[in-house]
Amino acid sequence: AIIYIPGDSGALALGAEKVAKATAQELAERGIAAKIVRNGSRGAYFLEPMVEVETAEGRRAYGPVKAGDVKGLFDAGFLTGGQHRLALGDPEEIPFFAKQTRLTFARCGITDPVSLEDYEAHGGLDGLRKAVAMAPLDIVSQVTESGLRGRGGAGFPTGIKWKTVLDTAADRKYIVCNADEGDSATFADRMIMEGDPFVLIEGMTIAGIATGATKGFVYIRSEYPHAVATMNKAVEVARKAGVLGATVLGSPNAFDIEIRVGAGAYVCGEETSLLNSLEGKRGVVRAKPPLPAIQGLFGKPTVINNVISLASVPVIMDKGAAFYKDFGMGRSRGTIPIQIAGNVKHGGLFEIAFGLTLGEIVDEIGGGTRSGRPVKAVQVGGPLGAYFPRELFDTPFDYEEFAKRDGLIGHAGITVFDDTADMLKMARFAMEFCAIESCGKCTPCRIGSTRGMEVIDRLAAGIEPEKSLALVTDLCNTMKFGSLCALGGFTPYPVMSAITHFPEDFKPTPARVAAE
Ligand code: NAI
Ligand code: SF4
Repeated sequence: AIIYIPGDSGALALGAEKVAKATAQELAERGIAAKIVRNGSRGAYFLEPMVEVETAEGRRAYGPVKAGDVKGLFDAGFLTGGQHRLALGDPEEIPFFAKQTRLTFARCGITDPVSLEDYEAHGGLDGLRKAVAMAPLDIVSQVTESGLRGRGGAGFPTGIKWKTVLDTAADRKYIVCNADEGDSATFADRMIMEGDPFVLIEGMTIAGIATGATKGFVYIRSEYPHAVATMNKAVEVARKAGVLGATVLGSPNAFDIEIRVGAGAYVCGEETSLLNSLEGKRGVVRAKPPLPAIQGLFGKPTVINNVISLASVPVIMDKGAAFYKDFGMGRSRGTIPIQIAGNVKHGGLFEIAFGLTLGEIVDEIGGGTRSGRPVKAVQVGGPLGAYFPRELFDTPFDYEEFAKRDGLIGHAGITVFDDTADMLKMARFAMEFCAIESCGKCTPCRIGSTRGMEVIDRLAAGIEPEKSLALVTDLCNTMKFGSLCALGGFTPYPVMSAITHFPEDFKPTPARVAAE
C-alpha cells in the first residue's frame, strides 16, 4: 500500500509532520508494510493535512487528519478505503477539485515531488522531448501563439519576451525564475516548487533551448526553506538523469540550473532588484531601459519569468498552443491558479480558465467568510492590489476587466475581509507597507509613503478631514505617476480603492477620534 501525506509547508503548518510520524509508528506496531510518500498539496488547505491511500478502487482521501486520528483510521481499515468520519472519498470527486481545470497543477499533490519516474509516468518531460526536436523560433512561436502572459502580475506576453532574448546576440544568456513570491494571499509558486518541482525545471529548460540560454537561476525567497530544499533535490535528480547538463535528454542543447535564496525584501520580487540581488548587490530597482531581455543578469540578455509562467510552458509544448489558448476569455488565455485566502471558509488554490467572476470565486468556491459574517471587501493582486466591494463582484477574472475597474489580478491572490474590516486602517497599512519595503531609490515612494501614513492618521483623528482627503488623493497621484517601479506606483490602488468604495470608513466618528 502507498500512503500519501503532504510534505507541503501549508500542510506541515497544519500538523502533517506529526501525522506522518504517527502513521509510521502505527505501521511499525501493526507490522504492516506500506510506503509513505510525502507528496505536495492538492491545494484545499481547509482539508489539510489530507492523507490519501492507494486502494484497489483507486485513491481515497481522509482529512483534515490530526495525529490523534491516525490510530482510529487504522482501526477503521483506511488502507483499504474503510469508512471513517474523516473519509472524503475519491479526491478527484471532492467538489473543490472536481470543478477545477488543472493544466499547470496537473500533478501537484498527486505525484512524489522528487521522483522523476513518477513525473514521467504522469506526462512529465513530454513537452521538453518535443522542444529538443524543434527550432528555437518554433518553440517561441508556440508560446506566443498560446497567449500565455506573465503570471507574476504584469501580464506581459511570455512569447514576446522570449523573442526579444532570442533575437539579441550574446555570448551568454540566462533564464531567471522569479520565485520571490511576496504578495499577501499567494502560494502558487511555493506549491509548485514543493509539489511538482520538475515542471518548473522542464519549463526553464524549454525557455533555455528556445532563447539560447544555457544557465538558469531560481531566485527563491528565504521564507521558503522547504521549497529551496525540494528544488535543490529535484535539480540534482534531473542532472543525474541527464535532463539537465551538457546534453539535455541526449540533444546538443546544454542547460543547467542553480537555486539561489533571497534575503527577505519584498522589492526583490521586482525584476531589476532581483537581478541586482542575484549579482550580490543591494536589492534596489534599476531604471528601465535597458530591458532585462536585452541587458539583464551580469549585463546579458535574460528571460525573467515567474514560476507559474515557466511551469505552464511544458503543457503548452506537449498539448499545443491551440489547446491552451482554447481556455480563457478576451486576451487572458489559458488557466490561472487563483489563491483564495484571508477570512474565507474554503481557502486554497483553485486553477481554472480565466473568466470566473469575483463573486463566484469568493461566494461559491470560497464559501464566503470563515467568520460567517458578510463579505465586505476583497483585495485582489497582493498588497498593492485594489479592494473590491460586493458591488464589483460581477468582475470577471481577466487582466483587462480588472484594469478597467482600477484593479489588477496580479499574481492572482485574493484576500477576503468581513464587515468588521476598517478600510481606513487597510489604507494606512498599504502606505506603511510601502514605507517599510521601499528600496529608497525614488522620492515619491520613499517619502510619499511616510507622508501618506501621517495624512491618513490625521484623517483618523478628524483633523481637517476634507483637506486631508484631498491631500491623500494628490499624494496618490504623485506616487502613481512618479514612482520608478510598481511598489510606489501601485500603493495608491489599495489606498484609493478603499477611499472610493468605502467612503463611510473615512469619516471621523467620535469613537475613532477618541481612539486616536
Ligand atoms: P512591466 O509592465 O514594466 O514589464 C512587464 C515585463 O515585460 C517585464 O519583465 C519587462 O522586462 C518585460 N518587457 C516589457 N517589454 C518588453 C519587450 N519588448 N521585450 C521583452 N520584455 C519586455 O512590469 P514590471 O515592472 O515587471 O511590473 C510591473 C507590473 O507588475 C505592474 O504592471 C503590475 O501589473 C504588476 N504588479 C504585480 C504585483 C503582484 O501582486 N504580483 C504587485 C504590483 C505590481
Ligand atoms: Fe524603490 Fe519605491 Fe522607487 Fe520602486 S517605487 S524604485 S521600491 S523607491
